[in-house]
Amino acid sequence: MDEFQSYLDGEFKSIASELWSHNANWWQEGFTEGADPEYREQILPILGELSGQAKRVLEIGTGEGQVLRYLERLAPRERLVGVDPTPEQIERAVARGGPELYLRAGAEGLPFGDACFDTVIACLVFEHIDDLEVALGEVARVLVDGGRFHFLLNHPLFQTPDSGWIDDQVFEEQYWRIGRYLEERHTVEEVEKDVFIPFVHRPLSRYLNAARQASLWLEKMLEPAPPQGFLDLAPEYYQARFVPRLLVLDFVREARTSSGSGGVRATLSAP
Ligand SMILES: C[S@@+](CC[C@H](N)C(=O)[O-])C[C@H]1O[C@@H](n2cnc3c(N)ncnc32)[C@H](O)[C@@H]1O
Repeated sequence: MDEFQSYLDGEFKSIASELWSHNANWWQEGFTEGADPEYREQILPILGELSGQAKRVLEIGTGEGQVLRYLERLAPRERLVGVDPTPEQIERAVARGGPELYLRAGAEGLPFGDACFDTVIACLVFEHIDDLEVALGEVARVLVDGGRFHFLLNHPLFQTPDSGWIDDQVFEEQYWRIGRYLEERHTVEEVEKDVFIPFVHRPLSRYLNAARQASLWLEKMLEPAPPQGFLDLAPEYYQARFVPRLLVLDFVREARTSSGSGGVRATLSAP
């Protein structure tokens, strides 16, 4: 392992926290308030549909709060709460108004009692979190039995650190390179000039097995094609239109047994 990789593995949490503070503005300007076609045309509508009439909603890694503001406009809710460890995101969320409560907290230690939300959302967040099992355990803890977890990720199979559209001029071949999918890895990627964002890549099986371990049952999985507004941005995006960018996993929290652990599967009607 090279020196930088072992430094990154050891210091990932503090590096990630500094980078998110430094780049909060980049996220807010480029991806919120209608600036990003994938949020506008795909992510927000999907979350709106999945959340239906959910009453007590927690969003983990809420950023500047666009998801919660969207849900608030769709239906009346009893409780809408957003948490994010990055102060610059929470400050902007509060300034932009909307939900009743924003708190500064990470997914690994949610400042709530057990079973106080019927819906938890994490949208493009867990690919920045180191402690997967701890964070999923927290999701399961704060959900009521039968509550829903709407989990959105950059598709871990196709959006690996070395993935991308290849236009091979020698063999006159174009294809999507997947890269080192099976290798679990901390990375810092330059997502645009001078903007460095921390990522943790994991294979899909890691997510699914850790969720099951945390008493979260997969109910539905979506792999939507990139939306038109995104494809219109660049010709290579159009060429790669059959490669999903987004993965949506919809989990149900298993009913607790009297001993407190997971047990009988809860059956709830869809929201
Ligand atoms: C790509 S943004 C997504 C923001 C928001 N979910 C949205 O969809 O607009 C990722 C967010 O994850 C937050 N984040 C980073 N590490 C986190 C952690 N350990 N726990 C919770 N959120 C975290 C960042 O501060 C950032 O606001």
